[in-house]
Amino acid sequence: MKILITGGAGFVGSHLADEFIAAGHEVTVIDDISTGKYSNVEHLEGHDRFRLIIDTVLDQPLMEELIREADRVFHMASAVGVRLIMEQPVKTIETIFQGTDVILKYCSRFRKRVLIPSTSEVYGKGASVPFREDDDLLTGATDKHRWAYACAKTLDEFLALAHWKETRLPVVVVRLFNTVGPRQTGQYGMVVPRFVKAAIDGEPLEVHGDGTQSRCFGHVSDVVNGLKVLLENQACFGQVINLGNDDEVTITRLAEKAIELTNSRSEIRYVPYSVAYGEGFEDMQRRVPSLERPIA
Ligand SMILES: NC(=O)c1ccc[n+]([C@@H]2O[C@H](COP(=O)([O-])OP(=O)(O)OC[C@H]3O[C@@H](n4cnc5c(N)ncnc54)[C@H](O)[C@@H]3O)[C@@H](O)[C@H]2O)c1
Repeated sequence: MKILITGGAGFVGSHLADEFIAAGHEVTVIDDISTGKYSNVEHLEGHDRFRLIIDTVLDQPLMEELIREADRVFHMASAVGVRLIMEQPVKTIETIFQGTDVILKYCSRFRKRVLIPSTSEVYGKGASVPFREDDDLLTGATDKHRWAYACAKTLDEFLALAHWKETRLPVVVVRLFNTVGPRQTGQYGMVVPRFVKAAIDGEPLEVHGDGTQSRCFGHVSDVVNGLKVLLENQACFGQVINLGNDDEVTITRLAEKAIELTNSRSEIRYVPYSVAYGEGFEDMQRRVPSLERPIA
């Protein structure tokens, strides 16, 4: 099959590319290398079933051509990470929503199977755990820009489901929970690589809040497997599906583990959310993202 992976030089997308190449498929990656890295796919360059295009998914004629020739589309390109969202508010919304709009438009025109990743962030301030896909979503005021990420992703979900409703576009929406593994960078605030790097460098591990908040971390190889399986299952078309690990760990315990596993002498330093990110993040403290249906 011909697989198109937008954002394929990013963390999750590059693992998807590895997986499909290993399984004997043809893979095209389009990535503007904004948060992704060429080094994530460098090892695939020269492979006769791999093609890398460095460009943006906002280029409509290009996307029309790429989607027309693809059998499956994984739209992994997105603005990701709390820090990026606070620093580049306009670009975040444009990249997420306009990008998904372009992808869905051409997938709909050529009737291609497409996977749209969303995020557990859409649950926002929701406190009824474990999270179910049909739960109400509760975000904050529009002057708290951090919610732009969740809302833009929610709008992506609405648009994908609208295409399913109107034309039965074979689309699957997958809400990813925290995903970790090789190639993830701590540069945009992702906690595991940030902790591991600090521990290795002997720097303090900055825990935001009091550290009692817990999170679930799925390994990227499990997540990639889940994404592949979901897009092949017709029962998933027009569905929203949570995907991640259901094993919770507190952030303090996570920091301790990073210190233990690297034999580090680093200390843990507690930093209030409002200091780490600005006002509007205090509610992160009490959120416990859990899953209704863990990936098998
Ligand atoms: N990693 C996680 O824990 C996590 C959690 C929830 C949701 N997600 C979702 O999974 C998807 C992939 O996330 P990731 O962690 O691999 O992030 P990532 O930043 O590593 O990957 C995103 C990729 O998209 C590329 N990109 C951005 N704008 C682009 C554009 N206009 N045109 C082409 N490429 C563009 C970036 O360069 C990058 O390579 C995203 O939709 C994200 O919202 C990830």
